[in-house]
Amino acid sequence: MGNKVEQWSSKLAFILAAAGSAIGLGAIWKFPYVAGTSGGGVFFLIFILFTVLVGLPLLLGEFIIGRSTQKDAIQSYKQIAPNSSWHIIGRLGIVTCFILLSFYSVIGGWILIYIFKGITGGLSGLTEQGYSDLFVQSISNPGLTVFAQFLFLLFTIVVVSKGVSNGIEKANRFMMPALFIIFIVLIIRSLSLDGAMEGISFFLKPDFAKLTSETILYAMGQSFFALSVGVSVMVTYSSYLPKNENLPQSAISIVSLSLMVAFLAGLAIFPAVFSFGLEPDAGPVLLFNVLPTVFNQMPFGVVFLIAFLLLFLFATLTSAFSLLEIVVAPVAKGDELKRKKFSWIFGLCIFIVGIPSTLSYGVLSHITLFDKSIFDAADFLVSNILMPLGSLLIAIFVPLKLSKETLFNELSQGSSISKKLFVIWYMLLKYVAPVVIIFVFLDVLGII
Ligand code: PFF
Repeated sequence: MGNKVEQWSSKLAFILAAAGSAIGLGAIWKFPYVAGTSGGGVFFLIFILFTVLVGLPLLLGEFIIGRSTQKDAIQSYKQIAPNSSWHIIGRLGIVTCFILLSFYSVIGGWILIYIFKGITGGLSGLTEQGYSDLFVQSISNPGLTVFAQFLFLLFTIVVVSKGVSNGIEKANRFMMPALFIIFIVLIIRSLSLDGAMEGISFFLKPDFAKLTSETILYAMGQSFFALSVGVSVMVTYSSYLPKNENLPQSAISIVSLSLMVAFLAGLAIFPAVFSFGLEPDAGPVLLFNVLPTVFNQMPFGVVFLIAFLLLFLFATLTSAFSLLEIVVAPVAKGDELKRKKFSWIFGLCIFIVGIPSTLSYGVLSHITLFDKSIFDAADFLVSNILMPLGSLLIAIFVPLKLSKETLFNELSQGSSISKKLFVIWYMLLKYVAPVVIIFVFLDVLGII
């Protein structure tokens, strides 16, 4: 059928897809464990500040780049700043997403393994120790984990090769609300466990004695990760938007949804962690160790657990689609055959690059890079270096290359944003975001 410009069928479809990209492992799996290792309440507080004061303005910046040009992550920068090197931002975003998906799919694979175990009866009736042994055993099995990672990427490739707007839209409408409902059930159970309040106070009461440079770096990385900003994914998604879309409203919806899911995940996990006497700083294994134990203590627990895992898988897949989409879109350029071909080629390359991350929980666990496992090093590189760097460049690019009038026009299409709010947004993007990001980098490097 040749070239076709993708378009979302409705406003809701865009919000759901962009929220689908944002909400995934970041809010559900990563947020609780990073909060657990980085100081609990104080981390949560700083994470909220970063999300609202830096992440939200950046998200709007990306929306403007995408919607005003209607182009992919490279062409959009070329159109706004012709004959310059600013398209490097898009290229950096693509490389970042490539690496990100390579380790993201590892956890996608873990979810698939747990769904399989749940359905075949392997997740019922174990002790706390039993669950944690089972998990270690599962993720250190090289054949199983690599196969599961492949399967996760296979789903992603198939959907992206058909075009995201067709692939994602339909399912999204039902899955998001369902995810919220199951979280509520889980939280009710978790809060009614003995000792739950200790977990709540760890999660919600900031202890400033635990505040370190690392806490701030991780909170910043987590806020960008959880909003999918800094890598031009939101540029690509908003390029499929009609001109009259209300951008501020969409951005606020996405930020609120993402914060809400992180909050719900914390409420579900920390009471249980403390009630069972587990360690909140267990790291990436936290969710997989804790949740089966909580579900096991509920009537029809296995059914709920499987439902949760399916929704969790869905949330993870919708983020994975956006990650592969941004890599494929610039080379497919609207050609359906090329889209198919490159979805497969890039998807398979990402699979190969991701294998060492998978194996770093088993046969390659002895290999460390900068004192981190291969998986953790890849995550650190993406979340705490590349995403903040991309965000910094976007925060510099938008006010430099787009006039205030253009920006105001873009933001006021379909919305009635006041001049005052516009100025606040502009200041946050132009001054606060770059200064804060540079400050955090310098602080962590020990330069200030
Ligand atoms: N926001 C996703 C999550 O929190 O799971 C991860 C992500 C997706 C980051 C897409 C960046 C991105 F471009």
